[in-house]
Parts: sequence; C-alpha cells; structure tokens
Amino acid sequence: MQTDCLSTLTNRDIDITKAIPLYQSPDHHVYWVGTLTRGEEIECNSYLIVDRGEGYLLEAGGFDRFSPTLDKVNSVFSAQSISHLLFSHQDPDVCASISAWLEFNPGLTVVCPSLWQRFMPHYMAYNVKYQPMGDKGLTLPLKSGGQLKCLSAPYLHSPGNMVTFDSVSGFLFSGDIGAAPYPDGETHVVIDDWKVQVDTMRGFHQRYMSSSRAVAAFIHSVAGLPIKAILPQHGAILRGDEAHKFFQWLGALPCGVDYLFPANS
Ligand SMILES: [Fe+2]
Ligand SMILES: [Fe+2]
Repeated sequence: MQTDCLSTLTNRDIDITKAIPLYQSPDHHVYWVGTLTRGEEIECNSYLIVDRGEGYLLEAGGFDRFSPTLDKVNSVFSAQSISHLLFSHQDPDVCASISAWLEFNPGLTVVCPSLWQRFMPHYMAYNVKYQPMGDKGLTLPLKSGGQLKCLSAPYLHSPGNMVTFDSVSGFLFSGDIGAAPYPDGETHVVIDDWKVQVDTMRGFHQRYMSSSRAVAAFIHSVAGLPIKAILPQHGAILRGDEAHKFFQWLGALPCGVDYLFPANS
C-alpha cells in the first residue's frame, strides 16, 4: 500500500486545524502540521516525517506555534517519538519554538546549517545535541532504507541554508525557496492558480534570494534528484509539473543583488 495523498489534495477539502497526510506507505508517512493563524505574521508550514516509528519535524516554526503543531503531531504520532528537529536556517519563523520543543523532549537532535550552530543557543538555555550540516551536506539514514539528504543551498536566502530531500516520498523540503507569502488568510496548502502563485512568489524571491548565481547553483545541485514535489516553509506546495515550472521560472528571475543592482544600470 502506498498512497501519494498529495496529488489528489484540494484546498477546498482541507481542514487546516488538522494534520494533513501528504504521503503514506506502511513504513513511511509525511504530514503537513503547520499553522494558519490569519494574524499579521507570515504563515508557516511545518512538516512531520514518520519512518518506521521514528519522527522528524521540519521547520517547527515560531514560539506560538509549538502548541498547535504539537497537537497536530500527537493526532497522528506520539510527539515523544520525534528524534530530530530540522531547521533550514536561523530565522524566528523557523526556529523560535525550539526551546518549547527541547523542554518537551531534551533528547532531541537538532539538524541545522553549521553556520548557525553558535547562534541557536540564543533561542534557548539547553544543552543541545547537534548534527550540523556543512557545505558538503549531510545524509540521515532512515530505518526503512531511505535517506533524508540535507543539501546546502547557500544564500537562498540565508548564507547558511539547508534543503532536505526525502528519498522515499520524493519530496524536497525547500525552506524559503518556493515560498509564497499569501496575504489573504485563505487556505493555500496546494496551488489553485499558477498565475496567482507566481505573482505571490515574485516579490519575495526578488528581494530575499541573494542572487541569480546562487539560484543557478541550487537548481544545478538538485537537477539529478527525482523530485515529486517542492514543500516550502510558506504558502503552497508545488506538485509534479509545478515543481518543474518553478525551477524554470526561478532560474529566469533576477534575484537579490541582480534585481536591485543590475550590472548595466
Ligand atoms: Fe527566512
Ligand atoms: Fe521563512
């Protein structure tokens, strides 16, 4: 039994207050466990991977997201059995719940870019077990036989930035790459309209992503991966052909210094 729940998901049918299954097989499950508060802050996607009884929480989110995300995790899995927290980069919308998670379970291992290891203690007062990811990346073997491949994608936007490819589901957890900060408070777990999605992604990528060279290096580095979907930390998941279209769109978009300070201006 293997169910790619993601391909049939529609925003209309989603109950945003619950964990949303994205991939299910006997050994391996992926869930959206994010939050939609409709507040002034940017909305956050968090994701849970469960592989043969071991849990990995990606992009746990802001300080106030601990409780709703914990409830969602516990509705499908014992949160005490989460072994790893993965953070793509240092921003508060990604990491600020870390002290609550470590209070809940001090034995958690934190996987994050090595550039941020000495900054993370400023979020909390715990002795933390780290698995830092350097520029050569890091592979976490899964009990099912698959792997979580943590890849360095520097300067997109953070100088220490990690994306994670799940070899079982084919999902690329991309952090802020592919983020669409929809401002309307509606449910956007998947894409309803490609043009609206692009219009929502454009300003964010132009301003936050550091340069078109960094984008080109990233697209090159993931080109050989069998990516079935891109799962960003904000906004809609890009599925199948949408992932493909996204790489083409992003590769042609002037970003960061190339957008703000074009060479011949
Ligand atoms: Fe960020
Ligand atoms: Fe973010």
